[in-house]
Order: sequence, then C-alpha cells, then structure tokens
Amino acid sequence: MQKTNLLYEGKAKKVYQSDNPDIYIVSYKDDATAFNGLKKGTIMGKGEINNRVTNFLMQLLEKNAIPTHFVKELNARETAVKRVKIIPLEVIVRNIAAGSLAKRVGVPEGTKLFSTVLEYCYKNDELGDPMVNEYHIAALKWATKEEMKLIAQYSLKINDILTDYLSKSNITLIDFKLEFGKLDDGTVILADEISPDTCRFWDSTTNEKLDKDRFRRDLGGVEDAYHEILKRLLGQ
Ligand code: TMP
Repeated sequence: MQKTNLLYEGKAKKVYQSDNPDIYIVSYKDDATAFNGLKKGTIMGKGEINNRVTNFLMQLLEKNAIPTHFVKELNARETAVKRVKIIPLEVIVRNIAAGSLAKRVGVPEGTKLFSTVLEYCYKNDELGDPMVNEYHIAALKWATKEEMKLIAQYSLKINDILTDYLSKSNITLIDFKLEFGKLDDGTVILADEISPDTCRFWDSTTNEKLDKDRFRRDLGGVEDAYHEILKRLLGQ
C-alpha cells in the first residue's frame, strides 16, 4: 500500500490517500497541542507509541464485536484505515470526574461517578469544541437519532471492554474521547485513535497520571508516561 496525496494535516496526525480508493493512511506525529492548539510542543516518540497503542486497542475492540476503521499497521508510525466520513463529534466517556467535568461541576478530580457519563462536543477548534446535546446533533444533521443510539451503545461497550482490559495492567480508565465515522454504505464505525493523547490513564495503585495531562499541566515525565503505557499494554 502506497501513500499518494496528503489529504489533511491535523494537530497530531496526517491523513493520506492511498493507491486503494477505500483506504487512507494515517501517520502519527510527535507534535502535541493542548487547549485547542494554544499550547504546542513535541513529545519524543509519541507518534510511534500512539500508533501502536491505538492499533492494539482497536484490534482488541474488533475481537469484541466493535467495528473499527483499523486495517493494517504499515510501520512504526503509519497505519492503513478504512476511508470514512468523520461524524464531527467528540464522544467523551467518563468513569471518574476529572478535567473539564471536575471543573464544570466543582468536584475534586478523582470523585467517583455513580454511573458512566457520556458527553458530546462539536469538533470545531475555532469554537473550542463546544459541548452539545442530542437535540443539537439531530437539528444540525450531524448524525441521525438512530446513529446516535448506536454511537452511545458502542461507546458504553467500548468503555466496558477497555476498563476491564486496562485494569489487568493496573491502569484505571478515568475518561476518554472517541470519534466515529461512516462508510459509503452508511455503516457507523469507530475511527481516530485511542491513546494517552485521548484517554486519562491513572496508575491504579498510586493514581499517578500516565497520559497527556502530564503535558497539558507541565507535570514532567511526559515521555516516560507514554513509554509506561506502551510497556504495560504491549510489553515493549
Ligand atoms: P476533558 O476533561 O478535558 O473534557 O477531557 C475528557 C477526555 O477527552 C480526556 O480523556 C482527554 C480527552 N480529550 C481529547 O482527546 N481531545 C480534546 O481535545 C480534549 C479537550 C479532551
């Protein structure tokens, strides 16, 4: 499989067309941003780690009946994925209050949530990815009610699969962000990435943060945290 045109360059990934019209090639960058691009930096080795971790978790999900865009890992930082039209939503799943939720409702980070929280944000950097609800999503035709029902079902099932799997590596899945896309025939599948950039991973014993919050909050040890996740999940 060969890359052809660069189709899109995002903050953390580039997406290329390939010689197969139904396949895109994603290339993960070491660039890191936070706060809608206001904070910029580099996390050495991040591209390769996020590529490997994402592919590992996408394959775990496929084995558990979640359809994903994963096709084949091509090399350390590049992966072939199915061509989809991205639904312009960030689906956030929360098990424990942290980050923007802790701030919004005024509870300490680490506060137990008695049930799983699903949130939707409209993917738009200029607007700061504003939170929206299912009425907005239907009214603006970003997705149908039926598609959103499926997306919610998949997201909760993904949460169960990942929470259970990560707990075996002594990692608590605090929260994470998913993106879904549609194939030409309308099938909704999981797209984008699942990595320390898009999840909060805390060591289950010490509550040490093993994710991008170390970069966002200048906590130090950013590269080490990414390497630790790679090691715990893939033994590398
Ligand atoms: P938040 O608490 O800042 O809203 O983040 C919730 C989860 O979503 C957290 O695991 C980090 C992830 N996330 C992204 O993947 N991309 C983003 O742009 C933001 C703001 C959060």
